[in-house]
Amino acid sequence: MVESAGSSVTRFKPGDAVYAACGNGFGAYAEFKCLPENGAVALMPANMTFEEAAAVPVGAYTALQFLRKGSIQSGSRVLVYGASGSVGTYAVQLAKHFGAEVTGVCSTSNVELVRTLGADRVIDYTKESFMDDGSAYDIIFDTVGKSPFEACIKRLAPRGFYLRAVHLSPLPIVRGLWTNLTSGKKVIGGTMKENAEDLMCLKELIEAGRLHSVIDRRYPLEQAAEAHRYVEQGHKVGNVVLTIRQG
Ligand SMILES: NC(=O)c1ccc[n+]([C@@H]2O[C@H](COP(=O)([O-])OP(=O)(O)OC[C@H]3O[C@@H](n4cnc5c(N)ncnc54)[C@H](OP(=O)(O)O)[C@@H]3O)[C@@H](O)[C@H]2O)c1
Repeated sequence: MVESAGSSVTRFKPGDAVYAACGNGFGAYAEFKCLPENGAVALMPANMTFEEAAAVPVGAYTALQFLRKGSIQSGSRVLVYGASGSVGTYAVQLAKHFGAEVTGVCSTSNVELVRTLGADRVIDYTKESFMDDGSAYDIIFDTVGKSPFEACIKRLAPRGFYLRAVHLSPLPIVRGLWTNLTSGKKVIGGTMKENAEDLMCLKELIEAGRLHSVIDRRYPLEQAAEAHRYVEQGHKVGNVVLTIRQG
């Protein structure tokens, strides 16, 4: 909620409900944050709670920007590896929005969730491997950094994209560069770029009912350390949010 705005600010006024991404200045949580008017801040989707909206920027941003880098279009065959995490749950929904044919990879307890997010097919990685059935994909989007590199490249269609949201260690970076140079296939990593335009685009999709946040757990700000301990186990479903007492 905008508490106060500078005298030259025209996009926002006190009382506006906004959502924002605050950059990668990790190290603390805060109840108040000063942001530039032209930063990654936009009016919040009208049909979301603060908690649901707070989850959107990083996960949905990342999913949106990677899928765009993969030239997603209607009819693309997309495999989302790690479909039950934050990036993954948004990626499944966004890929469906773009008209893709979506396969999600997750564990048994999340199969139903990933199906309800819109996946056409769900592969339970505890029972089968996506490599077994010989399907080809235009995009393989690994949101959790656990997919096997060579096997993914093999499963790509001739001009397919292997998207990796998790920072590449040196060996996959070299393999990725080699793949990009020697084949029509592309390996893409990197970091999302924060911007208000994507937040406005996501707001439209959310208000149109095309995208929602999956919230696993909520912790009060005072229990941020507990929240981290849970997240760091690597099995959260969708998002974990910190709540702030109002008033
Ligand atoms: N590049 C960027 O700009 C950028 C931006 C944001 C985030 N990230 C990175 O993206 C990663 C994903 O973050 P996140 O918050 O979306 O998710 P996350 O919390 O790291 O992932 C949790 C999910 O991964 C699933 N999972 C664990 N092992 C798996 C496996 N072997 N195969 C398939 N799924 C598996 C878990 O479900 P089960 O336990 O049931 O399998 C759980 O639902 C993080 O490493 C984050 O740092 C990168």
